[in-house]
Amino acid sequence: MAVPPEEIAQVRAATDIVGLIGEQVALKKAGRRWSGLCPFHGEKSPSFSVNAEEGLFYCFGCHKSGDAITFVRETQGLDFIDAVRLLADRSGIILHEDEKASGASKDRAHLLSAMEQAVEFFHQRLLSSPDAGRARDYLRSRGYDGETVREFKLGWAPDEWDHLAKHLKVSDEILEKSGLGFVNRRGRQQDFLRARIVFPIFDPGGRAIAVGGRILPIEPGAPLPERPEPKYKNSPETPIYSKRRTLYGLNWAKKAIVETSEIIVCEGYTDVIAFFGAQLPRAVATCGTALAEEHFAVMRNFAKRIVLAYDADAAGQNATSRVYEWERKHDIDVAVCQLPVGTDPADLARKDPGALRDAVANAKPFLRFRVDRVLDQSNLDTPEGRARAAEQALSVIAEHPDELVRDQYLIDVADHCRLDAAMLRDRLVKHRTGERILATHERTNSGQAERSEERSEQAVVEDPRDRPGLEALRLAVHRPDLVAGRLEAFLFSNEDQHKAAEVLLATETVADAIAAAPPAAAALLRRVTVEEPTIDEDVSDPVGPVIAQLLRVLVRQRIAELQLGLRRGEGDVSVAAKTIGALQLAIEDLGNEESTVEAEAWLLEWFAHDLEGTDA
Ligand code: UTP
Ligand code: MN
Repeated sequence: MAVPPEEIAQVRAATDIVGLIGEQVALKKAGRRWSGLCPFHGEKSPSFSVNAEEGLFYCFGCHKSGDAITFVRETQGLDFIDAVRLLADRSGIILHEDEKASGASKDRAHLLSAMEQAVEFFHQRLLSSPDAGRARDYLRSRGYDGETVREFKLGWAPDEWDHLAKHLKVSDEILEKSGLGFVNRRGRQQDFLRARIVFPIFDPGGRAIAVGGRILPIEPGAPLPERPEPKYKNSPETPIYSKRRTLYGLNWAKKAIVETSEIIVCEGYTDVIAFFGAQLPRAVATCGTALAEEHFAVMRNFAKRIVLAYDADAAGQNATSRVYEWERKHDIDVAVCQLPVGTDPADLARKDPGALRDAVANAKPFLRFRVDRVLDQSNLDTPEGRARAAEQALSVIAEHPDELVRDQYLIDVADHCRLDAAMLRDRLVKHRTGERILATHERTNSGQAERSEERSEQAVVEDPRDRPGLEALRLAVHRPDLVAGRLEAFLFSNEDQHKAAEVLLATETVADAIAAAPPAAAALLRRVTVEEPTIDEDVSDPVGPVIAQLLRVLVRQRIAELQLGLRRGEGDVSVAAKTIGALQLAIEDLGNEESTVEAEAWLLEWFAHDLEGTDA
């Protein structure tokens, strides 16, 4: 099992330590040394230094030091001998060691080699094989020329079961472990990708470690597939491929990232390619997964600033307090660039590459982006609108861990909403301690602007006012027996809830409803199907209070509208006054055990008519 000492020395001498470390750390030449941020501890200014001539590294901060072998051991968690083997592979040195070498590194070498051959196979098929004609046409239609195809080494996985496997001629074990194929029920080797455009995924050093495969669009006139296939299929986790660490494109983008200290993170393979096409060759993407802390740890080795270039809504949803935590821990700034809603970078790059560059140049700090979203989508023309905007902005600000940062945004919100900063500070404390501010429950004003504001922010911050509606939807999904005949779509003021209720009431099954609903409402339905309603089975009517809450909101809103009309002198005064009186009475009755059933029925009926009247 031992490697002769002269061969170890040979491996050391053959390894370019700057190149090796440079795959993981952005190194800049400083005199005769190279320096960068230490990969072993978090730091802001570079105290990690590499001496190419001696083949050694040293950190003035954490005092870690060693040679190429130490570096590989430490960063990849290998033992000495495996680290030597890995470096020998890199340099093409053949070690004369014991045959019973430890499995891990041999495996790695085999997997890397299989992957490299596969990527080359797919690539050649795309470039020249007659069966790739449609794939070439499709890529051309998206504006990819031959240069792009070569630069990103795109490929074509033929529409066959086993052409790759036949070409590779590797063992079943290697085929499966690499994720490139598997052994089917008849004991034959079968390919993982079939009839897909291949996006090879490389590690920062440029070694192919995985593949992503995209289907071609269905040809016009062709029969629809029996089972719809996912748009992308990505390699599974393998010994050479960790999704939580891998960033598609980093191998090509590294240089520009180091030069600008900035890394753009987008969602897809095609987005990365689009950024390169728009002269922003510093983009990477996660591979079908959410951004993980490991990704941050990788990025901080190259960049000081991360620009998230997700679809605007996705960026909001990804907004978690973890981002701030990672910003702090890894000492890296996160900004968000605002893309037109429903547009991804690839779309924008085709239509208007200049606009994409502007969006990146104007990226805002993460919290700024989120607060602005709230303010932009709020109605700041009324006191009520400003109060609600402030409340929503506070709940966003509350997630930031730094008091100094929080307070600056708070002052800004106070300005925008014409409120006293001291008062907002009190409220912020409540948000920080997780207390819900129930005083704002009342919906005192109405109007479309208010509704759309609520809708757009609802995905990001859960509004306490939406809770009764959520519970009602849970009941509708899990206990339709209890809500039969008592739930109407108009009970829901939140737009998505309203839509969800509407389709739910109009379809036979929840699955049908999800299929029929627009995306946000469908997402909501999926959510409530996995949540249980909180029902007290001992109570005679567990549903009553939920419906009562929804009705109360509606009644208050309606009364406010009527009162506003009265003040403005619109409509018949005595009719409006009577209606207000009747509604107030009904609300009181709703709270009394003896009268609640009738009050509910009366109100449901009244609103059904009222809405008919106003809609017609
Ligand atoms: P998109 O659906 O936005 O695809 O998914 P895209 O990258 O823009 O591709 P084009 O431009 O429509 O061809 C974004 C990313 O999410 C992952 C892929 O990594 C994709 O690049 N994804 C998407 C999957 O992993 N599986 C899927 O079925 C869909
Ligand atoms: Mn996309």
